Amino acid sequence: MRHPDTITEAPAPETSRRALLRGLGLASVGAAALAAGCSKGEAVAAPTPAAAAPAVDKSMAIMGANESPFGPSKKAIAAMIEKASLTARYADGEGEELKAQIAAMEGVTPEQVFLANGSTPILAAFGEIISMKGKGQLVTSEATYEGVPRSVKEYGAELITTPLTADYAIDLDAMAAKISKKTTATYVCNPNNPTGNMVDPVKLRVFAIEAAKTAPCFIDEAYLHLCDDYNANVMTSLVREGHNVVIGRTFSKIYGMAGQRLGYGIAQPELAKQMAMATRMGGVNHAGIIAAMASLSDAEFVPMMQPKFKAGREKLFAVAKGLGRKIAANPQASFVFFEVGMPNTVFAEKMAAEGVRVVGRAWPGYENWTRICVGDDWEMERCEAALKKVLAV
Ligand SMILES: Cc1ncc(COP(=O)(O)O)c(C=O)c1O
Repeated sequence: MRHPDTITEAPAPETSRRALLRGLGLASVGAAALAAGCSKGEAVAAPTPAAAAPAVDKSMAIMGANESPFGPSKKAIAAMIEKASLTARYADGEGEELKAQIAAMEGVTPEQVFLANGSTPILAAFGEIISMKGKGQLVTSEATYEGVPRSVKEYGAELITTPLTADYAIDLDAMAAKISKKTTATYVCNPNNPTGNMVDPVKLRVFAIEAAKTAPCFIDEAYLHLCDDYNANVMTSLVREGHNVVIGRTFSKIYGMAGQRLGYGIAQPELAKQMAMATRMGGVNHAGIIAAMASLSDAEFVPMMQPKFKAGREKLFAVAKGLGRKIAANPQASFVFFEVGMPNTVFAEKMAAEGVRVVGRAWPGYENWTRICVGDDWEMERCEAALKKVLAV
């Protein structure tokens, strides 16, 4: 199944960095090997920790899928190259090590942590579990990330969405008002995708504690490391305190490992076990685990990335605002969400013609809005010029 952000209705020539690597027949570790200037076979036989970046294909600025333009930690790349030959083995032992590392970092027990190949399988599995063979009900917001809602719909359960606030943020009061005995889960994405803004942490805490009395409350923290104040907004303490809350995390965003695939969840031990089973326990990829462990050990990486994303989102915000567009205020992730005065599918086509790929789909109720994520310097420059042309009045 494709990632929703890579599905585009606009013409999307295969010109991404990923396409370049795919064209050469390389998987993720192979890509690291390419980065080191050697073939896939050679990387296994003679690993080399030195990694040079492959040439960047500039035919298309890739700003549609909320990937990191800044790449993974150098330590993660080196670890993947150095340990590439270990991928001949299943990663059970290393998976346990990573769980222990995450548990220590988050202040929970390893039994409360579960891993998956990215967080997409976690969201899908959660949707499957809470659908209760079609009898379940999810309460969430409109204009939020589709992982859980889509899964719930596919499993035939009821989906209740509440409108955004006047500031285009998730309305926790409206969501709370929809919770009933029928509700089998709630889902809050914070920062929210696509709007990029956050809910007040005190309100979220109160909401989650109340909601969790009825059914598990899933808080998707895929972008949390990008926000201005991680400590004020992180919600893992709710799990520590024993509430029926699930936290979703991914290495795809600030850690720059979208193609490598590694996500994790934190929940009460029973649900964590159920989630591990539902995400096909034992199927987590070895290279992803190696890269994740190295990323978490690289204390300088997150502080180095945070200002880059902040500068990028502020730049995009200023450009869109300067063009007089309605825009979701205070973006805290890697993207901005704004109105473009035409169906986003048409806008995406126009942007693609200028060499910029933006998200190709739209969110119900926000058909004339787009979401653009932070790019590298050349991508940001091209995007600004394209926006000024496409949105010229
Ligand atoms: C809020 C949110 N959660 C989860 C995911 C899933 O990402 P991944 O499967 O790469 O971990 C995404 C992807 O864009 C996302 O935006």
